[in-house]
Amino acid sequence: MARKKNRKQVFTEVEVIDAGAKGKTVAKAPDGKVIFLPNAVPGDVVDVQTFKKRTAYYEGKATIFHKLSDKRVEPECEHFGTCGGCKWQNMGYEHQLFYKQKEVVNHLTRIGHIELPEVTPILPSKEQYFYRNKMEFSFSDSRWLTLDEINSNEDLGDKNALGFHIPGMWDKILDVKKCHLQADPSNAIRNAVKAFAIENNLEFFNTRNQTGLLRTMMIRTSSTGEIMVLVQFFKDDKTKRELLLNYIAETFPEVTSLQYVVNEKANDTIYDQEVIRYKGEDHIFEEMEGLTFKINAKSFYQTNSNQAYELYKLTRDFAGLTGEELVYDLYTGTGTIAQFVSKKAKKVIGVEAVPDAIMAAKENAERNNITNCEFFVGDMKNVFNQEFINTHGHPDLIITDPPRDGMHKDVVQQILNIAPQKVVYVSCNSATQARDLALMDANYKVTRMQPVDMFPQTFHVENIVLLEKRN
Ligand SMILES: C[S@@+](CC[C@H](N)C(=O)[O-])C[C@H]1O[C@@H](n2cnc3c(N)ncnc32)[C@H](O)[C@@H]1O
Repeated sequence: MARKKNRKQVFTEVEVIDAGAKGKTVAKAPDGKVIFLPNAVPGDVVDVQTFKKRTAYYEGKATIFHKLSDKRVEPECEHFGTCGGCKWQNMGYEHQLFYKQKEVVNHLTRIGHIELPEVTPILPSKEQYFYRNKMEFSFSDSRWLTLDEINSNEDLGDKNALGFHIPGMWDKILDVKKCHLQADPSNAIRNAVKAFAIENNLEFFNTRNQTGLLRTMMIRTSSTGEIMVLVQFFKDDKTKRELLLNYIAETFPEVTSLQYVVNEKANDTIYDQEVIRYKGEDHIFEEMEGLTFKINAKSFYQTNSNQAYELYKLTRDFAGLTGEELVYDLYTGTGTIAQFVSKKAKKVIGVEAVPDAIMAAKENAERNNITNCEFFVGDMKNVFNQEFINTHGHPDLIITDPPRDGMHKDVVQQILNIAPQKVVYVSCNSATQARDLALMDANYKVTRMQPVDMFPQTFHVENIVLLEKRN
């Protein structure tokens, strides 16, 4: 059998011409193939060293920069390039927006073969930094070292880290000094907790050996000013746990919800673990247009609250409700979109897989004095069937906001069977949205589209589409 050639190649002075492709930029090799690069900006002229060759493309790295693009800006963050969080920080915001919109249009036209109406320009985020309301930091006893540190002869000092996973490396944690994604006191809490833990010999976790005490810390902030801190411990050590939690409570009295988890499993997800309230409440609230939403440690809530408000307003606008409609809100989470559109609808039915989220949705609706929303729990492809429609009524409009994988094909088929006049499809992954829209194209026409930037400095983009039934 012929061996696959995976020889490294060098291409000199190639121009970087595009961006998208999961955050990578794109250049063309002399043989016409595309090269994906993680470390360039469109407009750069670079030498490329390839490390992977496929039939249609190469993957490589820019090694020498002959010309730097005028689309470049100086990254704000000292961790840029090592941390995987904000890959586009070195590109001006207007250019980030341009490439995000281009990617959405490309996906819908090239994957979906959808005929698009005039696309409303992507909605920028007002905050380009410090826009996230939730961050999770990991503890590690062996922090990621940069090449410079490894090559230096200096004493590297403390090896503990509290920060983010290095992209693609499950056991390597970058020690973060200042993160530009969540507003203070997030950085202050993280840095103080790290220093206190070191001073008091609270052991940081070692993922490979599964040893240590401190695993992760989640910080949630809110527009109401409330703050949640949740520390995940590996061992049930009451003395050390209380030492740290009391320190957080005393040093940061503005924390309104202090909680913890003791997780002795190999993986650090808290979703199957008991969350214990230590001080304050077991939740915080988020507020939007007079509606309040209770958020507990496990709740999904859009991470850019201000831009979520814009996303929901656009969704409501696309829905064009008159007050007479029965609306289905598929993948409703804690019922945020359902409640947001409820004033303009006769009735809204929300469906979601996570039982806790549905409990929160019901509680939120009650607190908000909303009486025309009902919520049901279950896997969409099983729950959203003909019997469900017979019981709850034929929707005039469906709003759907699925996870990154998009909708199950049975769910798409069920929407086609129900054939509501309009569908509003909100998506955080335009590739799967394009796939789903292609399945609906014979019956529905895309009449409006609006990309929304929820995540500046990253390549992620949200997209809202209005589908109207073809006659
Ligand atoms: C992108 S979120 C949207 C949440 C909500 N619309 C909002 O804006 O807060 C997707 C939601 O789909 C839910 N989900 C994922 N897979 C599901 C499935 N198979 N059936 C029902 N819901 C599911 C997730 O739990 C999550 O709440």
